[in-house]
Amino acid sequence: MNRRNLFRLGFYGSLGAAGYGSLIERRTPVIERAICRLPGRHAALDGLTVATMSDFHHDEFHDNSLMAGAVETLNGLNPDLVLLPGDFISRDERGVDTLADHLARLRAPLGVFASLGNHDQWADAGAIVRRLSRAGIPVLRNAATRLRAPRSGAVFHLGGLESAWAGHPDFARLARGIPRDEPIVLGWHEPDPFDTLADPRVLLQVAGHTHGGQVCAPLWGAIKLPRHGRKYVAGLFERGDARLYVTRGIGSMGVPVRFCCPPEISLIEFRATADRQPEKTLNA
Ligand SMILES: [Fe+2]
Repeated sequence: MNRRNLFRLGFYGSLGAAGYGSLIERRTPVIERAICRLPGRHAALDGLTVATMSDFHHDEFHDNSLMAGAVETLNGLNPDLVLLPGDFISRDERGVDTLADHLARLRAPLGVFASLGNHDQWADAGAIVRRLSRAGIPVLRNAATRLRAPRSGAVFHLGGLESAWAGHPDFARLARGIPRDEPIVLGWHEPDPFDTLADPRVLLQVAGHTHGGQVCAPLWGAIKLPRHGRKYVAGLFERGDARLYVTRGIGSMGVPVRFCCPPEISLIEFRATADRQPEKTLNA
């Protein structure tokens, strides 16, 4: 192949990949299911399910048909609880107005909760909190709420920390008054600070932020990753009794393209005995 044909092949190949990533993959969310193994002392949480979506960036490339479909798909998973760990917008908090109308249709018996991402906290975070609250979605800012698993009645706490990049996360404040033997499920937007969570009450951190890379190269993976999201890019990780789940998120940022990295709606299920190993195991 001569140089001219090689150039043509590269040009049309890139054009085709960008078109596919923008028109098809970006608009085709997939369901990811993760099994979260429970330590023996929390076996009563067996069967509890938490659904998550993150990184909507609904001001930048808002896509109402994507969101309407994503909400319907998530509701079809019948989760016990929904946790939305941030980046509702990229920079304009007014984007939450239409997004909140979609999110208000999410259904879960224990409720729908949120924590803030770095972009939310760089914008008018107060306005985002107010708009989500009006949609029936409390935003947990260094705070936690006490819940009970629907079938066993076992107590656990759902907490949310402020963004590690743009806010002031305060775990001590969040966990104040929570007994030593009651587990905490945590929404914390950035995944890499998982390494700083040494408290034995932390059962699971749910994070987003990385978009899984958003545009990935086949056989290579993410091309560019953000600060606080370079170690744990996507999927389930475990360290001792603590678990981390990182969702690729649902929206796009920077360019309206996803490639080899589809948007994700995730369902995490706690199991007293796992029937498969987690995707990645860390050496603590
Ligand atoms: Fe983020």
